[in-house]
Amino acid sequence: MTQPFSEQSLSIASEPPIILGITGSVAAYKAAELARLWVKSGRAVDVVMTENACRFVTPLTMQALSGRPVCQDLWRASEDGMRHISLSRSAAAIVVAPTSADFLARLAQGRADDLLAALCLARECPLFVAPAMNRQMWFNPATQRNVAQLVADGVTLLGPDYGEMACGESGEGRMLSPQAIVDAVVRWLRNASSASAILARRRVLITAGPTFETIDAVRGLTNRSSGKMGFALADAAARAGADVTLVAGPVNQPTPMGVARIDVTSAAQMADAVFSRAEQTDVFIGVAAVADFTPTNIIDDKIKKDKNEILTLTLAPTVDILDELGRRAPHIFRVGFAAETQNLAQFGEEKRRRKKLPLLIVNHAAEAFSSDENEVLLLDDHGQHPLPKMSKRALATRLIEEIAQRIDS
Ligand code: C5P
Repeated sequence: MTQPFSEQSLSIASEPPIILGITGSVAAYKAAELARLWVKSGRAVDVVMTENACRFVTPLTMQALSGRPVCQDLWRASEDGMRHISLSRSAAAIVVAPTSADFLARLAQGRADDLLAALCLARECPLFVAPAMNRQMWFNPATQRNVAQLVADGVTLLGPDYGEMACGESGEGRMLSPQAIVDAVVRWLRNASSASAILARRRVLITAGPTFETIDAVRGLTNRSSGKMGFALADAAARAGADVTLVAGPVNQPTPMGVARIDVTSAAQMADAVFSRAEQTDVFIGVAAVADFTPTNIIDDKIKKDKNEILTLTLAPTVDILDELGRRAPHIFRVGFAAETQNLAQFGEEKRRRKKLPLLIVNHAAEAFSSDENEVLLLDDHGQHPLPKMSKRALATRLIEEIAQRIDS
């Protein structure tokens, strides 16, 4: 049935291995099938089991199916004393299937109290979790809180599925089928690697956040943009290997790793920062909610309050950075964002044509500005392409893939 280890290992292609993490859940038996499918697809699998996982499926079974030694112990002496770091360095991804409620909680807290948790914490590769638990445990607010935290941290959630469970109840909480897990991870890795191949060392310039247009010494005009979407895109583009420069309006967001950040305040400063880098830019993504108007004259002091006086603010239009960049630097692949409150597709498409953009991403203004999630519609020369609602981090990864595909076509 199972091939001898040496023969099986020889049949495995040279792609980086998948780390298959198994935690304590009845669905652990399905991990055996998962390991078999990975090996069959030509991927090497390093299995890492928690202590509780070993109560449900034996390390010997997993070793026989993966053809490689199973890792369990953070503390076991080996030639490589830093296994929690070295194992994930060479991996394409960590897939924890099944992921118990307890392991979701430990991941969300960033704990490192066994080898699998330490590996997840020390990883550089993507992490996928396939939850499997009783439906009450799944819907418990604590689990949902942990899942939301993990998704916000960039972890990809696979399932759970709906159906009959080991406890005899039916509902949501069943682990996704092994084949569905393999398909989802393979698709994700394929898209990510083609985006990386296309974007590697391309110079990507992104604007993010609101602008602030000064009225007087203490007041100004701004908007509710949080900058989350633009920062998530900068992070995703940098992870895909691009040289990313982020021109940020006044926001309270941490700078993504490997991204050069330029802080600006006004629309005019944002425009200067962008135009001065046009020569060194291959791709421009205008995510910032740039003010369309700015006061014609700035008062140096604080305007005094006079209850009997009606003040008039005179505003002049700002330069449309995205549009003007197309005129100044036609070599740049420009991507626009549009936040609309109605007729998203129609207003978005009119904007895309007016600004002559190969791609415009349109979303609902209220949701886009306030939420950690977003649902967008992509508009290009071939029409409309809706994407399902997802976290801004997951969406950013997806959008970078969509942008990469269009650059390449
Ligand atoms: O026309 P509208 O402002 O809705 O277009 C939104 C798109 O244009 C966004 O990509 C935004 O970053 C960009 N924009 C710009 N400069 C402006 C106004 C909008 O780059 N002054």
